[in-house]
Amino acid sequence: MSVSLVILAAGQGSRMASDLPKVLHLLAGAPLVVHAMRAGQSLDPDRVVVIVGHGVNDVAQAVHEENPDAQIVVQSEQLGTAHAVDQAREVLEDFDGDVVVLYADTPFISPATLDAMRAARARHDLVVLGFEPADPARYGRLVMAGDALLRIVEFKDALDEERAITLCNSGLVCAGRAVLFALLSEVGNTNASGEYYLPDIVALARDKGYSAGVVTCPEAETLGINTRAELARAESIFQARARTDALENGATLQAPDTVIFAQDTMVGRDVTIEPYVVFGPGVTVENGATIRAFTHLEGAHVSRGAIVGPYARLRPGAELGEDVRIGNFVEIKNAEIAEGAKINHLSYVGDAQIGAGANLGAGTVTCNYDGVFKHRTEIGAGAFIGSSTMLVAPVRVGAQAVTGSGSVITQDVPDGALALGRARQDTKPGLGQRLMDRLRAAKAARQKG
Ligand code: UD1
Ligand code: MG
Repeated sequence: MSVSLVILAAGQGSRMASDLPKVLHLLAGAPLVVHAMRAGQSLDPDRVVVIVGHGVNDVAQAVHEENPDAQIVVQSEQLGTAHAVDQAREVLEDFDGDVVVLYADTPFISPATLDAMRAARARHDLVVLGFEPADPARYGRLVMAGDALLRIVEFKDALDEERAITLCNSGLVCAGRAVLFALLSEVGNTNASGEYYLPDIVALARDKGYSAGVVTCPEAETLGINTRAELARAESIFQARARTDALENGATLQAPDTVIFAQDTMVGRDVTIEPYVVFGPGVTVENGATIRAFTHLEGAHVSRGAIVGPYARLRPGAELGEDVRIGNFVEIKNAEIAEGAKINHLSYVGDAQIGAGANLGAGTVTCNYDGVFKHRTEIGAGAFIGSSTMLVAPVRVGAQAVTGSGSVITQDVPDGALALGRARQDTKPGLGQRLMDRLRAAKAARQKG
């Protein structure tokens, strides 16, 4: 049966003490709402509906960057979780299948847990995800009779004996679309918070003779983020897992605790990552590559056998071919560096294509920006760019061509040519010595006087 996701992302997150809507705070380089979307993607949903309330435009933009087909529905007043889900009623009216409700502030739900919820739908009309936290705190409590779920009671509304229950509500629900919305229209708001509670659909379902069941997951998966401290804790949990995954997948991490991964970092086998490396979003490192210490990468692809760093920066669109060398204090942006090319020291290469085996000397700069437009630089295979060459784009240096050190290259250089674009040297015999003597004498005279 097909499935649609409803992701609740309308809350303001006032406890974050932030002008940014809570669901846009970053965890491992991706907004919280995107984590929830990616978790739900494992169900291969037919439709994705995101309920937004605070920061509508910004949240919608982040959602659409991740999935242009996701539907945004605005909940203009936050009247409770049932009211939030109910906002999806119209857009799902013609959908025939299951609805899974996810919370945008709960980023660690695993595909296995979502699969288990879908599987449990074969036995129950309504499936709730529960968990046994170390500290049940103020979570809603699941009231069971054997395997059957009778109802969910919010902490605020619970009696002492209900508060003693240790099985808690994660908030996630899975039910058929028609049953879910029929139940939602009956949820009231006479409770301690005056809100429309989504968990109330359980008791309503039972009244109507529907069955409700529970699937449980480890507490780590239901970690909800309401404060900066919880966000920091989630980040450290994420990083610990990502480091373990990288090691298990065959990477060498010399100092795992100093390496920061992004949600989508892909690291191959026999990759070595030295200490203090930071991965932003969108990085793939293929088998056998080495990322040396203090390197920062985002939106980059590093092919087999390449060596990057120490102290390198790969920005979005950096495409490194096999066995490329990128050395210290080199920045690469939106540039394709073909197999075996070397850019080893103090260089900026942006909006460029560098041919196979080319060598860019220390201090090479592609002058790609004229203050308004960006322009491209092309360097052919096997070219040798002398140290401190300024390549004023748009410009092309041919294959096997050479530029003299210190050149400012403003015109295309044909294949195999030597281009010198610098002032001719003028040497005055003895003048250096005389100049220094005069300066030193002037200094001595000043100190005396
Ligand atoms: C909810 C559950 C509780 C459960 C807990 C797990 C209810 C009534 N209670 O409580 O049983 O143990 O989650 O963390 O559902 N939201 C909206 N619109 C609204 C209200 C909420 O979009 O009108 C969103 C929030 O942004 C958040 C999610 O729904 O992402 C949960 O809301 P929240 O207020 O955090 O519910 P809890 O009090 O934590
Ligand atoms: Mg909450």
